Amino acid sequence: MSKILYTSQENYIKSFRNEIDELIIEMEEFAKKGKVPILTPDSAQFLEQLITIHKPKRVLEIGCAIAYSTIRIAKNLKKKSVIDTIEVSKENIKKAKFYIDKSNVKDKINIIEGDALEVMPNLSNKYDFIFLDADKEDYEKLFYFSLMLLKKNGIILVDNLLWHGYAASSKVPPKFRNSTKHVRNFNILFLSHPTLKSTLLPIGDGLGLGIKIK
Ligand SMILES: C[S@@+](CC[C@H](N)C(=O)[O-])C[C@H]1O[C@@H](n2cnc3c(N)ncnc32)[C@H](O)[C@@H]1O
Repeated sequence: MSKILYTSQENYIKSFRNEIDELIIEMEEFAKKGKVPILTPDSAQFLEQLITIHKPKRVLEIGCAIAYSTIRIAKNLKKKSVIDTIEVSKENIKKAKFYIDKSNVKDKINIIEGDALEVMPNLSNKYDFIFLDADKEDYEKLFYFSLMLLKKNGIILVDNLLWHGYAASSKVPPKFRNSTKHVRNFNILFLSHPTLKSTLLPIGDGLGLGIKIK
């Protein structure tokens, strides 16, 4: 159960879901069984909407996992637009390649294998849209790298900023204390950074949306 919305509201939102893409449904089932954390369907839908509105030519994703969000982004890109996605886990890369091969957007996706903390300083492209969805402990460093790679008027979207509800809760289980501390510190940085117009949206596990204004 999410600790962000009331169950009745969450179920109400879910009741409008009408996904028909068999690959997307297959990937959601795989992620659920294998406990692979992927975007919630409502967050993924919002991400697709942003891509449709913003029409980025080049997207960077940090944290590909099995390529669920990657494929959902790629499906909404215009002709000639591409997504570079960074992933460090060999096991996830294998599964991501399997699903990307099954998708009809293979030509739009470039997987960069490695640790984003090492990969990002060596990237030469600039991006119109960056989606940050990696380990919370690394968010601050990855955010600074992202700002260097994001074009002016570019969008940065960051997942898990309400962190299962714990970011705003006074009761945090010991297992989540360290990660919650990182998310809270990150939220202060993200929501007050002078180069961004940013907001925190209660969609899925909490989405941070920033537009680079300087
Ligand atoms: C929450 S999952 C990504 C889910 C994916 N964006 C989706 O919604 O379908 C986070 C992924 O980031 C990867 N990751 C974590 N830290 C990383 C880093 N420093 N560099 C590259 N990948 C990283 C993990 O291996 C994991 O697969």
